[in-house]
Amino acid sequence: MRKLRLGVMISGSGTNLQALIDACQQHGYPAKIEVVISNRPDAKGLERARTAGLKAVTIDHKDYEERAAFEDAVHECLTDHKVQLVCLAGFMRLLGADFVGRWKDRMINIHPSLLPSYKGLHTHARALEDGVKFAGCTIHYVRPEMDNGPIIMQAAIPIAPDETEDSLIAKTLTYEHRMYPAAVRLIAEGKARVSGHKVVIKEDVPLPEVGLICPLP
Ligand code: GRF
Repeated sequence: MRKLRLGVMISGSGTNLQALIDACQQHGYPAKIEVVISNRPDAKGLERARTAGLKAVTIDHKDYEERAAFEDAVHECLTDHKVQLVCLAGFMRLLGADFVGRWKDRMINIHPSLLPSYKGLHTHARALEDGVKFAGCTIHYVRPEMDNGPIIMQAAIPIAPDETEDSLIAKTLTYEHRMYPAAVRLIAEGKARVSGHKVVIKEDVPLPEVGLICPLP
């Protein structure tokens, strides 16, 4: 089986990266991580990558005067490793339209809300503040506008009456960690296709229970 070559981009703790590392270690998983790139030298995810024996590279945005030069360096690293799909996993810098265009339909992101609600930061606190009954998380193809692009998968997560920001962050992450490997699998197996502003999922992927979670193949 030819595996889809992934480049994972991080800025922090890398628990989603870890979920992808664990999935890639499973027999028969159709993707492998070729390189992990962090824009922060102190990102804990770099240690996770190295512990797993993966190539882990820091490309520190502070070393570049212009965003374009930073993004050129990232692009070169990804192409050097013949990456086919870029997975943003807690990568906390906005990417410019040129870079996003170069990876159109080949770059995905995970965001801790039910998009298009709660783009940006502090999603959990804002959802709690608004008193919504469902929070969630989303995996989507990346477009130049922040937290925008064709949606691949979502989980709707009920908010408990005594929910706190910390408990909601932790609960959401458990869904994120299931979803990211599942979304990458869908793409690697050719079961997710971008059509206009939407992602079409092949008919043989089972639908989730109503209101519960994304299709987890
Ligand atoms: C996750 O909540 C992800 O959805 C968001 O940033 C967080 C990263 O967490 N984009 P981790 O670094 O994967 O632990």
